[in-house]
Amino acid sequence: MTTVKRICVVGAGNMGHQIALCAAIAGFKVTCTDVNTETLQHAKEFAERYLPERVKKGRLTEEQARQAQSNIAFLPTLKAAAEEADLVIEAVSEILDLKRKIFSELDRYAPSHSILATNSSFIVSSAIADTTTRPAQVINMHFFNPALVMKVVEVVQGPHTADATVATVMDVAKKMGKIPIHIQKEIYGFVVNRILSAINAEALNLYERGIASYEDIDLAVVNGLGHPMGPFRLLDLIGIDLVYDAGMERFQQTGDPADRPSPTVVAKYTKGEWGEKVGKGFYEYPDKKKES
Ligand code: 3HC
Repeated sequence: MTTVKRICVVGAGNMGHQIALCAAIAGFKVTCTDVNTETLQHAKEFAERYLPERVKKGRLTEEQARQAQSNIAFLPTLKAAAEEADLVIEAVSEILDLKRKIFSELDRYAPSHSILATNSSFIVSSAIADTTTRPAQVINMHFFNPALVMKVVEVVQGPHTADATVATVMDVAKKMGKIPIHIQKEIYGFVVNRILSAINAEALNLYERGIASYEDIDLAVVNGLGHPMGPFRLLDLIGIDLVYDAGMERFQQTGDPADRPSPTVVAKYTKGEWGEKVGKGFYEYPDKKKES
């Protein structure tokens, strides 16, 4: 097993900024990077706001918050962020070519012992591992949104992934206070997103056929199934852009029209109504627009 002390998170967006902070709170030395300087700045500001709030709420001591803050650095270049990492977690958009490009760069920048993990929601790491000279150290490490809160991390072992890589990543996830699930064979969407996609597809189908409003479908799922939020509010949380990108990526691979994003998702995507992070999706989030 690799001893992980330093973690690099690539992509400071919806998932990356919280994965990075979660690791810093757990005591890892973290570098977080993004090509978009505004996104990186937002991630930094989020950490500066979040840690004192956790102290005020009694969830962290002043010392824990101070330590977490000093554990995390926001760096604008991939090279500087990756060059000392024992584990890199890539959390960029759900676009295969982009991930492949980043992994080939990471292979050059990160030390030869380091593990390269993707937080992809759907894409298996064997679609990426061949861009590196270390496929045995390439793996999926999939967090859920909001990553500071949700406990599960799916650790997906590809045919190229060494058992020692799985063991290291499971161990890191546990140290981050998570519940790692070892997914022993690659499958598109893994476990949780396959189940969630089935729910979302049916919710969108019911809405598009005019069977019920999206608000009522959410109300039904929350109060009839006991889910913490309905499928439409959850789509807003996950990000309509992510759902759109994932659907288009899948459609390109399979050519099956059923894999295309639904007309409602396409319409929301085109209008820029990408959910909570932009202030509007199915619902409105006037405060979030400023914060994200
Ligand atoms: N970021 C960080 N922390 C957050 C947060 C956010 N966006 N939203 C809520 N929290 C924290 C709060 O600070 C609070 O923490 P505390 O109890 O330690 O003080 C705790 O979560 C509970 O928050 P609230 O009381 O304000 O709100 P709720 O009880 O309604 O919980 C929720 C909010 C945790 C988001 C809950 O509604 C929930 O679990 N929703 C379902 C989320 C889900 O299904 N996620 C998976 C999505 S699928 C996915 O991510 C796949 C990926 O591939 C895209």
